[in-house]
Amino acid sequence: MVKSLENTAKQILDSNYQEKGFTIPCKGLYPFQWKWDSGFIAIGYAHYDTDKAKSEIKTLLDAQWSNGFLPHIIFHNESDTYFPGPEFYQINLNPYATKKYKTTGLTQPPVTGFVLEKMYEIVEDKSDMLDFIKSIIDKVYLNHLYFYQNRDPKNEGLVYIYHNWESGTDNSPIWDEIWDTMDSPNYEFERRDTDHVDASQRPTNIEYNNYLYLVDIAKKCHYDDEKIAESSPFLVQDPLFNAMLIKSNEALINLYKIIGGNEDKIQQLEKWQNKSIKSFNDKLYDEELEAYIHYDMKNEKAIKLITSSSFTPLFAKIPSKQRAEKLINTLVTKFGKSDMYLCASFDPTSEKYNPKKYWRGPVWININWILYYGLHNYVYKELADRLKNDTFELIKKVGFFEYFDARKSEYTKNITGYGGANFSWSAALYIDLIKN
Ligand code: SER
Repeated sequence: MVKSLENTAKQILDSNYQEKGFTIPCKGLYPFQWKWDSGFIAIGYAHYDTDKAKSEIKTLLDAQWSNGFLPHIIFHNESDTYFPGPEFYQINLNPYATKKYKTTGLTQPPVTGFVLEKMYEIVEDKSDMLDFIKSIIDKVYLNHLYFYQNRDPKNEGLVYIYHNWESGTDNSPIWDEIWDTMDSPNYEFERRDTDHVDASQRPTNIEYNNYLYLVDIAKKCHYDDEKIAESSPFLVQDPLFNAMLIKSNEALINLYKIIGGNEDKIQQLEKWQNKSIKSFNDKLYDEELEAYIHYDMKNEKAIKLITSSSFTPLFAKIPSKQRAEKLINTLVTKFGKSDMYLCASFDPTSEKYNPKKYWRGPVWININWILYYGLHNYVYKELADRLKNDTFELIKKVGFFEYFDARKSEYTKNITGYGGANFSWSAALYIDLIKN
């Protein structure tokens, strides 16, 4: 059974792999290369096809802008199954934008640093992988430099996102209050996602108006971060995004040490690291909720809601032991009731929880993977095992979907997973988890 699921996972990755050397997240729904998807996908490949793992990262970094920015989608090919496409983004408005590819002007969580470290850990031929890492690591460093120089206007060590699509957790209830402050126009557009997935599992049209409006504002600013920070109604310090950056800082430090030399870069990374971890704990932890939260920089207030992102700092060893204990207690009491699979993407005790709707409740495999390693960092082995077993059970029951209902009772009915089927990162991270 385990072997055949592993084979299915590999078949999914291989069939989503494209001739140009990258892997689509899933057919129809997401027909291009996505930034954080590529990272998780490369980890899966590292277990059985290192050439593909390297090529996944190479194609991603090849689309880097000259200021270090890494876009969230690279439109390697034409496709009419996804909206909005490259013509909407007009990245040529920005002087640093790549001329080689069509891309978006948004980014996604900075996972690439720790992905390289994982790839190095996984493969047998370390010296071959190290040669590859040497050839591209400075691009990842440049990406971190971009974040600290352009996305941290108050010099806090915490970077902002200016779009919910940058968070990766697209329609989380976290953003709801921000949408209320906006008066987005009614766009005329034809959505494509709902051709592939039931609309009840996807964001609403009203939300899409907000998403498009935020891109339009960024375009008016020619994707200049300083101008965006002044004029965008959406400016958020996101705990998931910043935890990924911090974890990747640490990975770059470790890798540069293995490579040797690069003292100046190591020193700079350590400086960022110390400052970021301190600010993260000072600003993004809520004593009352006993969880990490998002901060709305535009309206200068903490967003007091708990999501699966609230627990991802465990992965980057951000909380102290004592704080981790409280945080994990919140995870277990709110998200870990015995009739629930870990880990719902949004607080199941909140009235905003929706068990079917994308990032408003369903379980996501990439977050489970992050939490699995995060719990291991603090030696919560039993809970880590539960998280892994829940992940396996969901996949065994319905297959390699994009996201899953967290309610165990639903699986006595004839339900499937949600969103796209044969989803690449679900397959890739399954391969990593079973090898563990
Ligand atoms: N996840 C977004 C979408 O659904 C884009 O990154 O279209």
